Formats: sequence, structure tokens, C-alpha cells
Amino acid sequence: MGKSSKDKRDAYYRLAKEQGWRARSAYKLLQLDEQFDLFANVTRVVDLCAAPGSWSQVLSRVLIKGEKFGRAGLEEKKAETRRYVLGLDEKEEESSTQNGAVEETEPPKKRGREGARIVSIDLQPMSPLEGVTTLRADITRPSTIPLLLRALDPDTYDPAALSSSPSQLVDLVISDGAPDVTGLHDLDIYVQSQLLWAALNLALCVLKPGGKFVAKIFRGKDVDLLFAQLKIVFERVRVAKPRSSRASSIEAFVVCEGFCPPAGFKPTLDAPLGAGTQIPTAKPKSRQDAEVSRTVRDDGVVELDFGDEKEDRDDVEEGGAQWIAPFLACGDLSAYDSDATYHLPKDRVSLDPVQPPTAPPYKRALEMRKLAGGAYGKTKGQS
Ligand SMILES: C[S@@+](CC[C@H](N)C(=O)[O-])C[C@H]1O[C@@H](n2cnc3c(N)ncnc32)[C@H](O)[C@@H]1O
Repeated sequence: MGKSSKDKRDAYYRLAKEQGWRARSAYKLLQLDEQFDLFANVTRVVDLCAAPGSWSQVLSRVLIKGEKFGRAGLEEKKAETRRYVLGLDEKEEESSTQNGAVEETEPPKKRGREGARIVSIDLQPMSPLEGVTTLRADITRPSTIPLLLRALDPDTYDPAALSSSPSQLVDLVISDGAPDVTGLHDLDIYVQSQLLWAALNLALCVLKPGGKFVAKIFRGKDVDLLFAQLKIVFERVRVAKPRSSRASSIEAFVVCEGFCPPAGFKPTLDAPLGAGTQIPTAKPKSRQDAEVSRTVRDDGVVELDFGDEKEDRDDVEEGGAQWIAPFLACGDLSAYDSDATYHLPKDRVSLDPVQPPTAPPYKRALEMRKLAGGAYGKTKGQS
């Protein structure tokens, strides 16, 4: 498929090149932010599986350069529309709310957030971005944690105090991790889930109480176990599908807010969570321990009541219904539909990607194909 045909069939691919994002994934994060206001009160962020770096670009432009996108961008647009409708300019609007004289002041310069720290990790090398520390490391390895902590606070990092003092912790961990997809659904879902557990284990080690965790998931059959585990350590767990993520793809994102680990819970990458190891609930209560009341009904049937057992379970909501993670579609309805094909003007010039992959895993295959004389079986010497 040529660049120009892809431009028509993938509006977000085209838009990313036009608006200077390294990958179309940037729109997924922006649409998640529109819905959940992810960057509110956030200064320290870790971006896992970050290459080629469009999510890190969003972080850099919001936290370091002070630009407004996502929720903040939407609010700015709303304010602009209000001014337009009322026929006010920005200064007039300010003075009308302050009901005083219009003061001649310099327009405010865009400023980043004080104390902003962004660390991005990927197996692949990543081109530099303003204010972002990049690490080439594997998120599934315990040895990545000290590297991350050092990168967050190079001046104060103390390897002896690996239990992390609060100043070392972060407000938000995001992960867009994906393996090289094979097309074998079960295998892809399994490998992706391993990346997700790795991201969660790492997040548990570095998140501040109250912090947020956002990660890509493939909606496979074990995803309920993950939601149940997340519900133990976060106040709110939701699943979201941004408009820029194709409806045909099983991809979605978990958005977890209000990190609240159970008392005494100590995360460690030596015994990481996964399908085999789980987070202990705050009040484990076996049926034997529960107070059982026994009633004999008029018809002779004996009813056993296990007391407030349901209230102690994290997967049971008020009223006794099983808890199901809420699923939200997000992104402005006026945004492009990622599954639609759009007509483009005939004379439109197709742009090159902003940042081609630095060292993609298929690089060697491309080189070999070039040496062999080209694509699709056409080799040197053949007529
Ligand atoms: C979909 S891309 C991420 C795109 C990125 N969010 C962006 O906006 O540009 C998935 C990335 O996961 C990375 N990845 C896969 N397994 C990893 C691992 N074990 N540790 C670190 N990164 C990994 C891949 O190298 C790839 O760059």
C-alpha cells in the first residue's frame, strides 16, 4: 500500500504527519486525556514502551512546553467559541470578569510545569525529545526499576534506599506496549498480556498514592482477572476505546485512577503479579471465618446467611451485582473515524512520516530484500 493510499484509508496516519506527531498513537493518548483529564495535577510521568515517541511528544509538549491539547485544548476551544459568540477578545473577556479597566500587559508566555520529569523506556532506541529522558531497556526486567529511579532523580537517587522515598514517586504511568503482532490471535493476546503485567508491576513500584495508570490491553479471555486485580489497588478502573483506535482491533486502554494499595502491600519485581501471583485483598475472609446465621424457614428449609461477605469482595458492587469495568468510547464525535476512508484532493502531496523507526526489528529483512533485488520475489538476475 502506497503512502497516498494509506493517507486516504487512515485519517490519523495522515493527520499525524500533518500535525507533526511521530505516530498516529498520539491521538489515542489525546482522546483519552479529553475524556479523563489525565494530565491534571501531573508533573512526574513514566512512558513505558515509548518508541517512536508520539506519547512522549504529547507529554513533552504539555508538561515541558506548556502547550494545550486534549482536555485543556478542548476547554480552550470552548472559551474561544464563547469569546467569538460574545464578540470579545481575550483581554476584554478577562476585564469583563474582573470588572475593572483593561490593563496593558504582555501576552502570557507558554510555560511548562514546575518540577516536570518525564522518563520514557523502550527496547528500541528513540530520537531525543525536549525534557524527556529516554532509556533503552526491557520493562519485564527487574533491573529496569533502579535505572528508572536514577533517571527520575539523577541527583538524589540512592541505590541503598530502593524502597523509594515519596519524592521519587510518579503521578502517572502510561504504557502503550505491544509485541510485534504475529496475526495468531491467542499468541498475540498472551504476549501483550505479559507486557501489560510487566507495566503494572513496574507502576506499582513507582506510583504515588492517588496516582494514575493507563495501559493498552487486548480484550482477551483473561482480561477480567486483570480488572479484578486493578480494582484492588485503584479507586476507579475503566476501559476506554479512543475513536482513533480501529473498531476492528481488539485493542482498548485501561484507565486506573486513585492508586490506593492495601495496607502492608509491598510491590516487588522478584515476585511479580501475573496470572499466577495476585494482590492480597485488604480483608481476606474465608467462609469458615465468616459469621454464619442459620434460619429454619416455615417449610423446613434451612437458610445459611454468610453475613456481609459480599461487601468484602472487590468484584461485588452495592446491591450484590458483579462489578464489571465500565467501558467508554472516547474522542470528540466530530473527530475522524479511524475505520473510514476519506477522499483527498487529487493534487494533494503525501508527506513523509515525521520520525521513521530508528531501528525497527524488520530493518534487517528490508536490507536483505534490497540486496536480493527488491520486493515480492523479484530478485536480481531474473527477467
Ligand atoms: C505501539 S509501540 C508504542 C508507540 C508509542 N506509544 C508512541 O506513541 O510512539 C509499542 C512499543 O512497545 C515496545 N516494547 C515491546 N516490548 C517491550 C519491552 N519488553 N520493553 C520495552 N519496550 C517494549 C516496542 O519496542 C514498541 O516500540
